[in-house]
Amino acid sequence: MLSIKNWDNKTWISSAKYIQSFNNFLLKQKKLTKHSKILDIGCGRGKIMGSLSSKLKLINKPVGLDIENHKDFDKRIVFKKTNAIKYLKNNKKKFDLILIKQTIHLFNLKDIKKILAHSYSSLNIGGIILILTLDTKDNEIPTFSLMKQKLTQSFKRDNLIWKKLLQLNIKKTIIKFNFKVNIKKNIYLKMIRQRYISTLLKFSSLQILNGINEINLKYKKNILFNDKLKCIIFTKV
Ligand SMILES: C[S@@+](CC[C@H](N)C(=O)[O-])C[C@H]1O[C@@H](n2cnc3c(N)ncnc32)[C@H](O)[C@@H]1O
Repeated sequence: MLSIKNWDNKTWISSAKYIQSFNNFLLKQKKLTKHSKILDIGCGRGKIMGSLSSKLKLINKPVGLDIENHKDFDKRIVFKKTNAIKYLKNNKKKFDLILIKQTIHLFNLKDIKKILAHSYSSLNIGGIILILTLDTKDNEIPTFSLMKQKLTQSFKRDNLIWKKLLQLNIKKTIIKFNFKVNIKKNIYLKMIRQRYISTLLKFSSLQILNGINEINLKYKKNILFNDKLKCIIFTKV
């Protein structure tokens, strides 16, 4: 499998503003205390949970799972380089919050079922699973034409996953998380070059180069857009 190394590598997703805004959103969904236990599936560098850990003065460090061996992971979390399913299968711990942010689309439907079943049984009563994924409706992620085409294709699959999630017989709430991004074009071009999003992983060097040229012409010095996520919250009753 192609790996996502640069998603949160000095991008708006790893900015203090984004993390603060996301964690405020999280805390509105679930009352957490310093005793709360948190698992982050596909945590990347774990900065979001690291920051939340400091904010709440968590007694137990959040556990973050990722298949990518991020050497620069946030040291305020317990980082486990592992496949999420492998970890969940053997897990005996109970959590109050399980976060699956912009990661669910990387699994096939069979594995998504497994992840949800294992996650649900790893929750304390009242605990929640929070799944966030790109909002496929009026998505504003800056793209070049081929990227747009592939993103639209992947949205079809995302919508299918979403439909399956909605069908699950678990108490659920649907909400949105929006973040206003203001990014310098040259930084965004670097993100494209580093293939920050899974859509770009399979592109050839030439396709990336052409895409960079296209974005360079299409956008002004500063790129402004809304990073729109949709969120489903499953609660254990
Ligand atoms: C798009 S990133 C999202 C990172 C983070 N959740 C965030 O929103 O900032 C998806 C992450 O999932 C990880 N991932 C992909 N497949 C995985 C698996 N089977 N088990 C654990 N992590 C996985 C990737 O390595 C990547 O870091």
